[in-house]
Amino acid sequence: MKIKTTLTTLCCAVLACTAFASTANAAKIGVSMPTQSLQRWNQDGHNLEKQLQAAGHEVVLYYAGDNDIPTQVSQIENLVSANCDVLVVAPIDGGALTQALQGAKDKGIPVVSYDRLIMNSDAISYYATFDNYKVGQIQGNYLVDALKLKDDATTPKNIEFFTGSIDDNNVNFFFGGAMDILQPYLDSGKLVCLSGQTKKEQVATLNWSTEEAQKRMENLIASKGYGPEGTRLDAILSSNDSVANGITNALVASGYNADNFPILTGQDCDKPSAKNMKRGLQTMSVFKDTRVLADKVVEMVNAICDKKEVPVNDTKTYNNGTGIIPSYLCTPIVVTKDNLKEVLVDSGYYTEKEIK
Ligand code: BGC
Repeated sequence: MKIKTTLTTLCCAVLACTAFASTANAAKIGVSMPTQSLQRWNQDGHNLEKQLQAAGHEVVLYYAGDNDIPTQVSQIENLVSANCDVLVVAPIDGGALTQALQGAKDKGIPVVSYDRLIMNSDAISYYATFDNYKVGQIQGNYLVDALKLKDDATTPKNIEFFTGSIDDNNVNFFFGGAMDILQPYLDSGKLVCLSGQTKKEQVATLNWSTEEAQKRMENLIASKGYGPEGTRLDAILSSNDSVANGITNALVASGYNADNFPILTGQDCDKPSAKNMKRGLQTMSVFKDTRVLADKVVEMVNAICDKKEVPVNDTKTYNNGTGIIPSYLCTPIVVTKDNLKEVLVDSGYYTEKEIK
């Protein structure tokens, strides 16, 4: 295991910190987020900025337009030339930042990979995320229960598969976690995928785009004849909500409604999905509280700045091609219309009005 922080060059702004009520040595933290066009990354950026500032840090926050890789590369170069003390980076393409982050390594700036793992770069000190494999397993197990696949009397069920962007390392864990649960049922014939598209590459959705997912679902409906009056479609595995929203759009346009809607999974509890779950147009989502992840990252950044032990709870799972990256995995939870109010509204994540 390697822990590659170069602490000696860190957090020189010790004198400045006396003005802040903070336990950390105040520092300049560069934050790079992938896009402003998906709700979750706006929330992540906002929560991180707020909580890092509350800890006394100066924050430089960039969004890379709408998933624009060259923009993210040049923003990271800017953060390095601005001599940030720590970088927190959620990559668009996990494999596209090796060169840009070499600059951080050369200057001894520790990098925390945020939510998605940055691949093939030995500049990464830590990784903070949710348990991504567990997300996939939660979705897979949900489908097994909802379709009663363990029951001998259950007749074969029709399913189609959708996952996210192939350049996002998380997809390996989301899709892999779900398929580890579902593959045995495909093998035994209890689950049937009429399109035959069951491989990650065949079911990927570039940039997790709602429009791309909608197009693919429309094509499946047209080619397989799925519909309330046509070929039965019992379930769809979708790795997240932006993809699920596209699937829902296509299903509703072809005549499905709450009374005959296939079981549809998701992840994030984005507002449109929370609304769809209430209306019966998505069955479940996996909630990853961005406030919890931001809290953990602030703890990690503070520990780096204070030269204390950085909290991690996984030192085995995430190899980015240069070795294992010590990680902190937060816990995802399942949400359906039954616990939606309790988890999302009562906790203050959304107001009732926001998801009406
Ligand atoms: C995140 C998901 C998100 C997806 C699309 C993934 O890397 O872990 O929460 O839905 O990106 O933004």
